[in-house]
Amino acid sequence: MTPRRSLQTVRLAALPGDGIGPEVTLAGLAVLEAALGRAGMALEVTTHLIGGAALDAVGEPLPAATLEAAQGADAVLLGAVGGPRWDRAPVRPEAGLLALRRGLGAFANLRPVVVHPGLEAQSPLRPERLVGVDILFVRELTGGAYFGRPSGVGGRAPNRRAVDTTEYGEAEIRRVVAVAFGAAAGRRGRVTSVDKANVLATSRLWRAVVDEVAPEHPEVAVEHCLVDSFALRLLLEPQAFDVVVTENLFGDILTDEAAALTGTLGTLPSASGGGNGPWLFEPVHGSAPDLAGRGIANPLGAIATVALLLRHAVERSDLATAVEAAIAEVIRGGPLTPDLGGSATTEEVTAAVVAAMRAGAPA
Ligand code: NAD
Ligand code: IPM
Ligand code: MN
Repeated sequence: MTPRRSLQTVRLAALPGDGIGPEVTLAGLAVLEAALGRAGMALEVTTHLIGGAALDAVGEPLPAATLEAAQGADAVLLGAVGGPRWDRAPVRPEAGLLALRRGLGAFANLRPVVVHPGLEAQSPLRPERLVGVDILFVRELTGGAYFGRPSGVGGRAPNRRAVDTTEYGEAEIRRVVAVAFGAAAGRRGRVTSVDKANVLATSRLWRAVVDEVAPEHPEVAVEHCLVDSFALRLLLEPQAFDVVVTENLFGDILTDEAAALTGTLGTLPSASGGGNGPWLFEPVHGSAPDLAGRGIANPLGAIATVALLLRHAVERSDLATAVEAAIAEVIRGGPLTPDLGGSATTEEVTAAVVAAMRAGAPA
């Protein structure tokens, strides 16, 4: 494919964050550098504080300098934020991530879930249920309960109360639903919209907007599904889904559930964008405090995230495909980290992906 706009130098803002975040970010950067090198392109990386690391260093989870650097970059690569150390902090590390997503206008969060040949054995589901599973979740990322007002805890024990508010405007729904239909048109032409319209007013508005957008895409078949029933169907018939679009909170929960289809959370990538800012790329997993510092986190999620970065921000699908082919090869033949039944380290898996890419067809 001929790139529409090819950058000669990619200016990347790296936000490693907490726990395994820095470990998997290093892995992603190694692969990104190798991929760009194949195409004679350069990578310029600046590293910035976010999350708990930023709270410790400067007292806030998203320093203004980090947001500014992110907004000025060609793309933003984030590791993960959060961890038990900050669980009782008055401001949580996760607040920095939410502010970053908002600050970049990243309202559409694309989370592809593919069960690569070789992964079926790791899944708790029977292999025949998993062959060919290829779902694109489009999660609304800057609205809903995550950003509702007012949100907080008040009163004194035993009468404390807490409130979170789910609010959606129709324009907010329309723009993310449009992304889902656009994506489905280039895939297998099916959209499943997930809501809780039998209970929630926001879901009834969501459903109405989906029905208004649908006629603009007559080539795409649309179905509505209640979130509880979708959670069930995702395990019973994962092959039935193409593009799934849903609100922020449901999307968070369902994509972790979908990760179980692949046997681990460690391989899932994501790309977020849609507004005026640069796109934000982050693996779906968190800071995995149980693995942090042990050198055994699965880097494939961060590496697959780099493939999305090459496709969406650098607009080099050829390089993205080369990275994805290298990942598929390593999943087939190893080495693999313990979450996938292997005994390799993060570094060994990363080196194997780089080697597989170098051995692959030239860009
Ligand atoms: P988690 O995603 O960190 O871990 C869940 C499980 O998946 C754990 O068993 C972990 O070992 C495993 N896992 C995750 N990433 C892995 C990888 N790369 N390789 C192998 N195994 C992996 O979720 P959690 O433990 O519920 O949350 C820990 C912290 O991470 C919390 O503070 C949470 O808020 C934060 N978090 C951050 C992000 C983010 O920054 N995008 C996403 C999710 C959770
Ligand atoms: C994710 C994470 C975040 C979310 C947290 C860390 C705020 O779970 O990216 O899936 O809920 O969006
Ligand atoms: Mn999550």
